[in-house]
Amino acid sequence: MRRMKTAAILSQAPIGEDVEVRGWVRTRRDSKQGFAFVEFNDGSTLANLQILVETSLPGYADWIHHLTTGASIGVCGVVQASPAKGQSVELLASALTLYGTAPAEKYPLQKKQHSFEFLREIAHLRPRTNTFGAIARVRNALSAAIHNFFQSRGFLYVHTPIITTSDCEGAGQMFRVTTLDLARLAQLKGEIDWGEDFFAKPASLTVSGQLEAETFACALGECYTFGPTFRAENSNTTRHLAEFWMVEPEMPFYDLADNMDLAETFIRTILRDVLERCPADMEFFNQRIDKTVLETLRNITDNEFVRLSYTEAVGLLENSGRKFEYPVRWGLDLQSEHERYLTEEQFRRPVILYDYPRAIKPFYMRCNDDGKTVRAMDVLVPRVGEIIGGSQREERLDVLVARMTECGLNPDDYWWYVDLRRYGTVPHAGFGLGLERTLLLLTGMINIRDVIAYPRTPKHAEF
Ligand code: 4AD
Ligand code: MG
Repeated sequence: MRRMKTAAILSQAPIGEDVEVRGWVRTRRDSKQGFAFVEFNDGSTLANLQILVETSLPGYADWIHHLTTGASIGVCGVVQASPAKGQSVELLASALTLYGTAPAEKYPLQKKQHSFEFLREIAHLRPRTNTFGAIARVRNALSAAIHNFFQSRGFLYVHTPIITTSDCEGAGQMFRVTTLDLARLAQLKGEIDWGEDFFAKPASLTVSGQLEAETFACALGECYTFGPTFRAENSNTTRHLAEFWMVEPEMPFYDLADNMDLAETFIRTILRDVLERCPADMEFFNQRIDKTVLETLRNITDNEFVRLSYTEAVGLLENSGRKFEYPVRWGLDLQSEHERYLTEEQFRRPVILYDYPRAIKPFYMRCNDDGKTVRAMDVLVPRVGEIIGGSQREERLDVLVARMTECGLNPDDYWWYVDLRRYGTVPHAGFGLGLERTLLLLTGMINIRDVIAYPRTPKHAEF
């Protein structure tokens, strides 16, 4: 008797073999011909395995009525060709173990379609639905594809700290980490003595591993980080999370053009890998979530991205004859509606914008000679907008220090980062890809809260 997963049984179809499966009941239908059909799912694949349970099985009358949606069972049986349409094999049960019941009148997940809003309230059960099972498998395949991409190119995977005392993006959107007694502080009037805190200075959760990744890139060559990132931005949009996952490659001796080349190859490769590895799940998204998903993805994997300077993009938007909710003017940041106009209507493919105004970008980006722009790049994709932000880094000591001061930062606080420019400095570049934004692109899901297991957003940290 071989213990098997549904995915393997359906793909290998070992007809005549005795196997054992363990998982959960999706539905049960009793026939009048002396058996019941159980639709069984163990999470290994989207498809259910049909199990035929004959009324003559030992104990049948005791447990059959407990085989309701959500009940957990183990089944031994023989794999046989299925006469039913749409499935090649089924399992004829020879023994059944009931592990746990899921009383139908209480179990929140019923056969009917539930809204994504409702499922967010029972996020601990939503992995049992088709949609969230498929998202979990695609997220897994995407993570593996990301590692494969970099590992096959000799990039070093580095783990950067989660607790940090520097604000990489300089946006002040950090979650404070402290062991100070907040109740006592609330009663105190006056200054907080940070010397009493755990790290003896203000510390926070990281908004990016970039600065630390740069120190490795400038010693060991191409590297990347891949981990959770935290931002206390109070944006209640369908594209922002307070906790999200980011992939950040960092490459010495790369300029902005090299950076754009890598970002483009990276996106096209990982999308192609997931399409290849998860055909059933991707077909499901295309049928049930967004009928244009596969077409959009194929269009991205098969065509080159458009590259355009920020200044050109602003010109296009200004002359588009389009009424936007937010103003478009040189010097202002682009909003999601502008990014989507460029990728969905103007070019109908991903667009890499580069050379943004220095006033709206962080201190570490390399300054251009025009005195107005920095060597930034954002990769924009249809439906989602920005999925990558990156830049060539400022490698000149004097320029970096001046720029930090211009951004209101004290270079002394970043002494170790500045040291990289003091000793053996090199031109270098890197970028950050948002994992959940990439999943929105892949799955056609609309809300970023639905592509991460337990979303953290303003006022929401349940589970
Ligand atoms: O553009 P960002 O802020 O760039 C950085 O953090 C750089 N330090 C990266 C680098 O150069 N190493 O963020 C990068 C990406 C965005 O393009 C977006 O995909 C994602 O991270 N992102 C978010 N995803 C979900 N929720 C949020 N609040 C996000 N903020 C950024
Ligand atoms: Mg950005």
